[in-house]
This record gives sequence, C-alpha cells and structure tokens, in this order.
Amino acid sequence: MRTIHSFNQGWQFYKTKPTQSAGEAVTLPHTWNAVDGQDGGNDYYRGTCWYVRELKKPELRDGERVWLEINGAAMTAEVYFNGEKLARHEGGYSTFRVDLTDHLDENNSLAISVDNSDNDTVYPQKADFTFYGGLYRDVNLLVVPAAHFALGYCGTPGIKVTPIVDLTARCAEVTVEAWVEGEAKEVRFTVDSQTQTAPVEDGHAAAVFTLENVHLWDGVDDPYLYTAVALLDSGDEVSTHFGCRKFEIDAQKGFLLNGRSYPLRGGSRHQDRFGVGNALSLEHHKEDMAIIRELGANTLRLAHYQHAREFYDLCDENGIIVWAEIPYITQHMTGGRANTLSQMEELVVQNYNHPSIAVWGLSNEITAASTVNEELLENHRALNDLCHRLDATRPTTMANVFMLEIESPILEIPDVNSYNLYFGWYLGELEQNDEFFDEFHAKYPDRPIGFSEYGADANPQYQSPMPEKGDYTESYQAVYHEHMLQMIEARPWLWATHVWNLFDFAADGRNEGGKNGQNQKGLVTFDRKEKKDAFYLYKAAWNKTEPFVHLCGSRYVDRTEDVTEIKVYSNQSEVSLYVDGKLAETKSGKTVFKFKLPISGTHSVEARAASCASVMLIRKVDAPNPEYALPGRATVVNWFDQGEIDPDCYSVNDKLGELQQDPQAGTIINQMMSQGAAQHGGDVATAVKDNPGLIRMMSRMTLISLLKQSGASAEQIQQLNRVLQSIKKPQ
Ligand code: GCU
Repeated sequence: MRTIHSFNQGWQFYKTKPTQSAGEAVTLPHTWNAVDGQDGGNDYYRGTCWYVRELKKPELRDGERVWLEINGAAMTAEVYFNGEKLARHEGGYSTFRVDLTDHLDENNSLAISVDNSDNDTVYPQKADFTFYGGLYRDVNLLVVPAAHFALGYCGTPGIKVTPIVDLTARCAEVTVEAWVEGEAKEVRFTVDSQTQTAPVEDGHAAAVFTLENVHLWDGVDDPYLYTAVALLDSGDEVSTHFGCRKFEIDAQKGFLLNGRSYPLRGGSRHQDRFGVGNALSLEHHKEDMAIIRELGANTLRLAHYQHAREFYDLCDENGIIVWAEIPYITQHMTGGRANTLSQMEELVVQNYNHPSIAVWGLSNEITAASTVNEELLENHRALNDLCHRLDATRPTTMANVFMLEIESPILEIPDVNSYNLYFGWYLGELEQNDEFFDEFHAKYPDRPIGFSEYGADANPQYQSPMPEKGDYTESYQAVYHEHMLQMIEARPWLWATHVWNLFDFAADGRNEGGKNGQNQKGLVTFDRKEKKDAFYLYKAAWNKTEPFVHLCGSRYVDRTEDVTEIKVYSNQSEVSLYVDGKLAETKSGKTVFKFKLPISGTHSVEARAASCASVMLIRKVDAPNPEYALPGRATVVNWFDQGEIDPDCYSVNDKLGELQQDPQAGTIINQMMSQGAAQHGGDVATAVKDNPGLIRMMSRMTLISLLKQSGASAEQIQQLNRVLQSIKKPQ
C-alpha cells in the first residue's frame, strides 16, 4: 500500500543561496511574487530562490521506496539531496518526482532551487501575465512498495483509461493500462465492480472492459464518473476516475457532445488571485468553480499552461469541458523546442484520464512576435504529432492572433482552428468580429473554427452614459459583450467561444484602467469580490437553472442625463421595473431588457422577474462624478456632433477601404499613412503591406477609429475631417 505524506510544512525560504542562518519559515504552496507580482511596475523579483528542509529517514519495510513529488515549481527547479543534485525540471506547471531512496541517510537535507528569471529555452518568456516564481503547489513524500505503479516517467499517474463510447449500442469499451516499476507478475484491474487480472509484460499491463448501458458523462447536465482501480500483489494501488463520453467537432455543426449539438460557451481562467499570487488552495479552486457554475458556462480554456490536477478534477466533477494548453506563447524561441515537447508530453501524460479535457492547445498567438517560418512550422508539427502519438482520442488546436492571415500554412497543422480577436477593444469595430468569422467560414467551410479569446477591460469604478471603446468602463464592457453574445448565438458553428477572461488577473507589465499590474478583462474582479455587469449578461444567457434578474449600472449612482437608460439582464422572459415603489413598465424579451427613465432627484429603482428582484439607488446630478472616469481621460468626447457631418462628402467616419478607393481621398489617406509609418520607423507600412490579413482588416475600420488608435489628437482629426468633407462622394 502506498502512503502519501504532505510535505508542505517546515520549509526555510531563501531569496538567494541558502546560508547557515535561518531562512524565512514558509509553508507550501508559496510564491515569492504574491505581492510584487501583482502591484505593477514590471519590477517583480525574477531570479533563483531556494527552499530547504530536513527529512528524517522514514521507517521502510522490505524494499520500500521513497519518492519526492513536486506538483508545481515555477519555472525551473533543481533538487539537491544531502548536497547531491538529483534532478532538474524545466517547466513551471507540471508534476515531477524524484526517487530519494538510495540517497537516504538517517537525517537528510533537501534543498530545491527554483528559478523564474528570463531565459531563452523555457516557456513562457513573453506574455501578458505575471511569471510568478515558487513552489506554488503541494509537495508530497510518497512511500511505495518495491513493486509499485510507475512514478518516474513524466510525472505519470501510473494508470491510463481509454473509454470508447458506442452511442448506438449505448455501451463503452474501456481499456485500462498500467505501468509498473519493480518486480510484478500481474495487475488486478477493477472497473465498475468488474475485475480482471492481466499479466505484466515489459512493465506494462492492460485489460479491456465493456460497460453495457453505459452511464454517459454528459457535461454540466450529468457529469457521471466511473472509477478504475489497479492493484499489485505488493499492495500498491492506484485509481482514477474517468468519464464515458463522445466529443465531435464539426466544421458546420460545431461541437457535439454524445451526438447532440453542444456549442462550447464559456471563458478562460488564469491560476491566480489577488493577494496570494498563484499559490492557490483547494478552497480557491472550489470558489472559482462555484462562480463558473453560477455563470452557466459549459467550457473553460485553462490558459496559458497546465493547471493544477485539482482543478481539472473539479471540471470533471462539474461537467465543464476544457481546452488545455502549454505556454508556447507570443514568441517562438529556437532554443525552446525541446521544452515545448517536454511540457506537452507532461500535460498529456498527466491529464489524459480527465473526461473534461477535449482538446490540446499547441500554442497561443505564437506569430504575434514571430514570423511563420519553417522552424516555427516544424515545432508545431512535432507538437501535433506528439499529441496524436500520446492520445489518439483528442484533437489538437491553437489560439491564433488576429493579425495572422487566414491563409497561413500554420492553420493547416492543428486539427481544429481558433482565433483571438479584439475588434471593438484594441482596434476596429465590433462588427469586424462577425465579418472575420463569416469570411473564414465561407472560405474554409470544412475547417472547424473557434473563438479562443475576446474581451474588454473594465474597472467597476468607471461608469459612462455614453460608453465607448477604450474607456475602461463597466458600461462599455457590457455593451461590448452584448454585441459578442449576439454574434456568437448567430453562429452555432463556432465550436467553442471563450471570454477573455472570467477573472481579472496579474499582468505586472500593465498599468492601465486605474489598476496597476492587472489585466481587467475579467467578468469578475481579481479578488473575486465583484461581479461586473457583463457577468450577469452571460448568466442570463447561459444559466438555465437559477432564475435571476440583475440591474446594470448599480455603481452608476450619480447620473447627469435627464432621461437615463435602465438596463436589466435576466434569464426570465418578463421583467417589471418599479421606480420609487411604483410600477413603471413591464417588458417581455430575452436576456437584455432596456428601459428609458426620466430622473429628477434620488430614485429607488427595482427590477422584478419571477420571484427575483434587484434594487439600486440613483440620483440626478448636474456635473459628472469625476470618480466614474479614468483620471486624465476627458469625459466622453463626442468627437463630432453628427449634425456637422455632410453625408454626401467623405469624413473620418468612413471606412479606410472606401476612402482609399477615391482618387482624391485615397491620396490624402495614403500620404497620412506613409507619414505615420515614417514616424514609426517605416515598419508599420511594411508590416501592413506584407500582411493581406492586416490590410483586409484595416480596410474595414473607420478612419476615426484608426486615428484614435494611433493617438491622433481631436484637433488633428477635425482638421483631416474638414479636408475630407470638401470631397464629394460619387453619387
Ligand atoms: C492576448 C493574449 C492574452 C492577453 C490578451 C489581452 O490575446 O493571448 O494572454 O491577456 O490578449 O491582451 O488581454
């Protein structure tokens, strides 16, 4: 029988090399960037730190072995035992183990160095999240019989279960395999009260079970789990839960679960939280899952790396379908090929049994800072082949950056495609998201396409009656996601869509939106204390079990407008609005309900639907509350009073492509762009010229959005507009 001892207590932490003096007493999980990794300024400590603790030799019976198990050491670790280096592990997100047995004295000293500094071989190196350092997940000591299930290879669970479902026959064929270290003749397998004994050959044993009238793992509706157990004569035993389900991804039908249409609709999650960094407890994981279940999501993209085993377990138990991935991100490194392969091998080997995992993600926006050359393509082919070799049951995918032209050869490597788009936030217009997918789907009708990232930053403090792209208001984030939700609902062939992000997270290089060190695209704040209005939009669309109603803008108390919009999200079909206790209006509809309300003082506003209610107080004020806007950002400048624009002439509100068609207007625009490119060292023009996708995308943007994007002043924009207004459009 194996015993697993928690080994989280009694560590001494040293920010530099260990010395004779005591270090800082710490308990694992631990990160040394819990504070400086989240406060912005890009100054968080990145280097090599040490964890040291003593180990008394455990009582061992006939040939028992002692293994150290480390479930997360970011990013590179070396294990020294009584001064001897026993192991090195490169990759901050996976489990690895070290056999200590033959090095044990009565009293032993264990020292683990952990490094999160810059380098050019271990991913991630360039990305929009904090690279926390530390032993940030549990460490355990395993004592196992001489003959035991494998521990050494890639942090394997030692048991592998492959259920193949036959939906017509309502049965599943379940192959259970196990790998053994030490001398063993046979393995006794048990699945669903059926037992088979199989011989061990070359350290491997397998058995095949048939489950008649199989109880399917059916997503959030019924995430039924079976258990497989493997037992040796030595008494060592391992077990794993597994689920019987059938996933299909079809270019026209989208995602199917157990034969029925099941569009994957959800979001992404980083593994960190305000104040604790990435040293999360099981309670933290459970709280996140509870929020995800409230939202009504049926999928998660666990970005941008391998997450904790406990969280994949929670996805299995809650029926959440998962996109798992490695941190091959942003910029390809020639010296990083081996690391991509080792991180992928560990991700697949360690997580193969989770029924929730549907796809393996090869990379994220890897062409953002790298060209698509043969080296990059080969690295992706090697990863793709590795996934298929280790796992014949799951497809591969990758998240592509919006500038990557849809004709790129890299898109032919993974089994299914997906894009990260930020039209309507970083650049361009919301409608360009619709156009992009319709164009891809029309050009490649036989290629499944997904929407792996989309989002807009929002600080719940910031509010606006005229929300607009880039204002960081909770109001604009809601408007943005209302458009995206409609876009997605009209395209069931999008096999998966993932809001970036479900939770605000640490991006220490950022300082924007009034919060230093955070990416605020979350539907929920970093401390999980505040759900933004957009959270309730998706809850209204996705949560089918808990009736609710939500008044948007409850943080927008001081209102300058005489007639204000009261927006309500609900999963009910009828909403009544009460103002100062009196019924104002009842509306029927779906998800989003909008009311117009004249205000003249302080008002109590209440939305009721079914037996639910949501209440807020608002008041009419003369001057905008300065707390509601980003410091330094003028209250929303309505760049032009639409009455000033002569629609028969060109203006900055026209799209770039249209303007460039006109000989006069086109000359002016091209001059402006080449001047702009010259200012940016010419690379902008080159980059655009060489990228048909970018040209196509920019041609669809309005000139004013491009000008604002490039930081042009209101005066410059008005001056250009005056010139364009002097040019008649062809009738
Ligand atoms: C990218 C990237 C994310 C990042 C996001 C953003 O798509 O994949 O890691 O956080 O954009 O800019 O918010």
